[in-house]
Amino acid sequence: MTIQTLRGTVDILPEATANWQWIENIAQEVYKCFNFSEIRTPVFESTSLFQRSIGEGTDIVSKEMYTFADRKNRSITLRPEGTASVVRSCLQHKLIQPQSIRRLFYTGPMFRYERPQAGRQRQFHQTGVELVGSPQPAADIEVISLLKTFFDRLGLKDVKFRVNSTGSASSKAAIAEKLRSIVSPSKDKLCADCQKRYDTNVLRIYDCKVTNCREIIRTLPGISTFLGDEDKQHFQDVLDGLDALGIEYVVDDFLVRGLDYYTKTIFEAYKENSLGACDALAGGGRYDGLFSEMGSSFEVPSVGFAVGMERIYNILKSEDLFPEEKGIDCYIINAGVSFINILPVLQRLRNSGISASCDLSGRAVKAQFKEAARQKADFAVIIGEEELKNDLLKIKCLADRSEAELPISKVNDYLKESLNKE
Ligand code: HAM
Repeated sequence: MTIQTLRGTVDILPEATANWQWIENIAQEVYKCFNFSEIRTPVFESTSLFQRSIGEGTDIVSKEMYTFADRKNRSITLRPEGTASVVRSCLQHKLIQPQSIRRLFYTGPMFRYERPQAGRQRQFHQTGVELVGSPQPAADIEVISLLKTFFDRLGLKDVKFRVNSTGSASSKAAIAEKLRSIVSPSKDKLCADCQKRYDTNVLRIYDCKVTNCREIIRTLPGISTFLGDEDKQHFQDVLDGLDALGIEYVVDDFLVRGLDYYTKTIFEAYKENSLGACDALAGGGRYDGLFSEMGSSFEVPSVGFAVGMERIYNILKSEDLFPEEKGIDCYIINAGVSFINILPVLQRLRNSGISASCDLSGRAVKAQFKEAARQKADFAVIIGEEELKNDLLKIKCLADRSEAELPISKVNDYLKESLNKE
């Protein structure tokens, strides 16, 4: 058997790449409108970067990372997400000073050893932003409205936002302590994972799907019960901003996220009845303590999100929302001349920005016309002995079947005008 892709990885084939590029281009246009600049970080990093930022007790770090020793026995990990690398890069290259703001975006493959299913892969793609350096609720509102603008520009309808607040960096320890004391009498009834979460990040218990745990969770108060006045006000300001922008959301007092670095606002975007269990299209939130935990000598409050691109792709595809793919401008039909006669015409077209192709397998004229149609060519240019002798090439518009005859030197201008090209 020939070698196949590994489980949880897929080839994005030529038939799909135009649609992927369409998504990426819209993302870039929206990022530019919001004044975000691109950052590209390596796909592998020191394992300790993710252990320290995402958190040792999280599923990502404890179960899902692609970690290996390199040839010098250093522990390397394929990035499971982008935020940790952006923080590392900002610190390494001193991209931020106290009070300064950076608006950054990234797009690329991420790696998590998860059980593959629809919309869940081991190599998947995220596009995301990090608004670095602002504690203001306005920053949270800005990234959520950017995400909403992105969905709108894609034509994605009925995307909902779930929002919550998990408390500031300074109150996290106290919140965890209070929750532990409430959960403590039922600790023995929790699943093995939640017993660990009880010690490492007790809030994550809210997210457990095990039946026994769900029964205990049902008796717990929502996270807002634990918030101090300042955190509550910050969250209310974010909600007021979303209201002002007409962005619909539901406050989910039990929402928690699978990464330890979050403080205050957290959110997820999802689409009901779309992909069943794994329907989060994007997730994000504020992480005011992460820069300091990663070694910053000053505080760098930040907020961001990442979109799961496969999930967006799947919905756009199933709802038939991708634009129809444009074909090439021109297909050259070789009506029995040497390829040497075709080459200069082809090259001149391409040099002037007209996309052009031709047969390379010696097919009959009829088959070449079929191929031109298959490639959705706007025009066919026919070159035969007769045409060369008279210096008159036949140009056929494949949409309305109209024809013109022009000297070789006029073909480019004619096509450019017909195709509305500069
Ligand atoms: P996350 O929730 O772990 O957050 O991932 C964001 C999105 O990536 C998810 O909502 C989902 O759409 C997609 N995703 C995650 N795992 C997979 C998978 N195995 N296959 C396909 N798609 C997947 C983060 O990664 C944070 N770094 C987001 C963030 C940025 N927070 C602040 N800034």
